[in-house]
Amino acid sequence: MSEIFDLKGFIEKSKPLDLSGIDWSLARQQPVSAAERRILPYFIDVESYTIAYLRALLNTSAIEDVEIADFLSIWAYEESYHGRAIERFLDEAGAGLDPNRARSVQRPRRRLEALQDGAASAVSRLVGPDFVAVHMTWGAIQELTTLNGYRRLAEQTQNEVFAEIVRRIMRDESRHFAFYYHKAEERLARSAKARAVTKFLVNHFWKPVGAGIMPDAEVDFVSLYMFGGERGAVEVAHIDRTISRLPGMAGFDGMSRFVADAEKRRGPEVQHGTRPRRSPALQAG
Ligand SMILES: [Fe+2]
Ligand SMILES: [Fe+2]
Repeated sequence: MSEIFDLKGFIEKSKPLDLSGIDWSLARQQPVSAAERRILPYFIDVESYTIAYLRALLNTSAIEDVEIADFLSIWAYEESYHGRAIERFLDEAGAGLDPNRARSVQRPRRRLEALQDGAASAVSRLVGPDFVAVHMTWGAIQELTTLNGYRRLAEQTQNEVFAEIVRRIMRDESRHFAFYYHKAEERLARSAKARAVTKFLVNHFWKPVGAGIMPDAEVDFVSLYMFGGERGAVEVAHIDRTISRLPGMAGFDGMSRFVADAEKRRGPEVQHGTRPRRSPALQAG
């Protein structure tokens, strides 16, 4: 992707998730699978955690870039509607969540992740403005995996109402991905230091969306539901290939490594008929 990202167009097109025309009464007439009842609270939590991720970003020099600052406020606003739309769907389908459950932003953070965040802001200060490339690359991977994950949810659900909501959310995720990817490309292209730091940190520390705020078993379950098996492998290869095309990121294989490891942790008895893949070398390319 090298075409110029149309930030003005992005800002003009931004609006709350459009739920007009959705016949909510149909939600209850079509099934919500056991896997979906387990996975959707994860998505709600991750979407509503955006605000905490924004807090971390605002503590870095990222907001000194005017385009990033303009993007971030709209991004957090749009994401906030995604979790609420899914929550409403579960309510309408009769599978509503406990209204008193703690949201992800209210739960105590795990110590390791809190330490990693602290380390990230320390490294960010040491590296200086080039660290923005790490955030943009990271964001591009998270938005792309989210976009592809939603696509897999829409493909697998038997609930047409849910599939329609997901397709509308995907339009936002695809615009978010385009921004992060474009910015990552720009920031990586202009600095060898940005490329070296980004490649090192992403290859060593990247984990899927939700890791660190959700229990590991849930991260594995959700990842394998979306990206396991032969169909998932197509998406995984697409994600790794797309990120590999960013300057300095050749050989990125974080997604295939994570899914292969999750399949190993799950064990061979429920492999969806696929061969367990070998984990590629830690630092390919
Ligand atoms: Fe989202
Ligand atoms: Fe997004």
